[in-house]
Amino acid sequence: MENQSATIKPEHQETDESSRENVPNNAAQTVSKKRRHSDNDCPAEEAVKPKKIFKYGNYNRYYGYRNKNESPMADVRLQAFISLKDKITGKQMLDIGCNNGSLTLLIAKHCHPTRTVGIDIDGDLIGSARRHQSNMLKSCTDDEDTFKVLKRVEFRTANYAYQDESLLASEKPQFDVILCLSVTKWIHLNFGDAAVKLTFKRAYRQLNEGGIFILEAQPWSSYKKKKKLTDAIFEQFKQIAFRPDEFNRYLLGDEIGFREMFELKIADHAVKGFRRPIYAFRK
Ligand SMILES: C[S@@+](CC[C@H](N)C(=O)[O-])C[C@H]1O[C@@H](n2cnc3c(N)ncnc32)[C@H](O)[C@@H]1O
Repeated sequence: MENQSATIKPEHQETDESSRENVPNNAAQTVSKKRRHSDNDCPAEEAVKPKKIFKYGNYNRYYGYRNKNESPMADVRLQAFISLKDKITGKQMLDIGCNNGSLTLLIAKHCHPTRTVGIDIDGDLIGSARRHQSNMLKSCTDDEDTFKVLKRVEFRTANYAYQDESLLASEKPQFDVILCLSVTKWIHLNFGDAAVKLTFKRAYRQLNEGGIFILEAQPWSSYKKKKKLTDAIFEQFKQIAFRPDEFNRYLLGDEIGFREMFELKIADHAVKGFRRPIYAFRK
């Protein structure tokens, strides 16, 4: 996927992937369009290159778009995670919806967790993440500690969103930090309210006592821009009753039970649409 040269307009693109853990089995989705071409009296129809639809927010050039083609180091969120280094070093970290792994690997490189797992619903992105990891490993052979940390990063294709509550029963605490950055909207639009709630419950169960869940949720206003991405998303959008501005209260409420919440200090993103607060919830 990473070699595709599609213009980055996340609002209008999507793809789909199926493989392994709980990943929906539907093929890459494209929208074919026919262009009318009439340079003579007899208009002809000519197929144009199908447009990819990134229905899970699985943009293959997300960081190029988000960081304006600068180095992933320019991601304003990285500094916020570096400031939490004491809560990450020597700990076990999960990144839900890690995309091509750029941010996951940088957090690992700078904060040295003992174990890092990045999962994404899109197997092509996970392939990119693994390639990215091996390139980083080649360039840090003289820094043994960082090399070991990066070598231990695991990337897996998986759909984190359960749709069956009974699956929660098998979840055991195993992480100290779980990141859920700009993913909830996509879980919401594809799998609905119940799946978002189960995502929060699953993360809570997977956290060790004292562990933190770090959430960057997209605002409701940004859902509206994507509601017509596919017919299924439109149907799901119409059913949504659990809005993002209720997430914090829900996470701290009886159904989940995080003990406290604090907001991460983060510099303003140059693009207004990416200025999203990031909250940490302690178990
Ligand atoms: C907008 S990107 C955010 C990437 C990264 N978390 C960040 O903020 O830099 C959303 C990512 O979540 C992934 N994703 C969406 N739904 C998912 C699900 N149910 N399970 C796992 N990954 C998912 C997408 O494939 C995509 O890579």
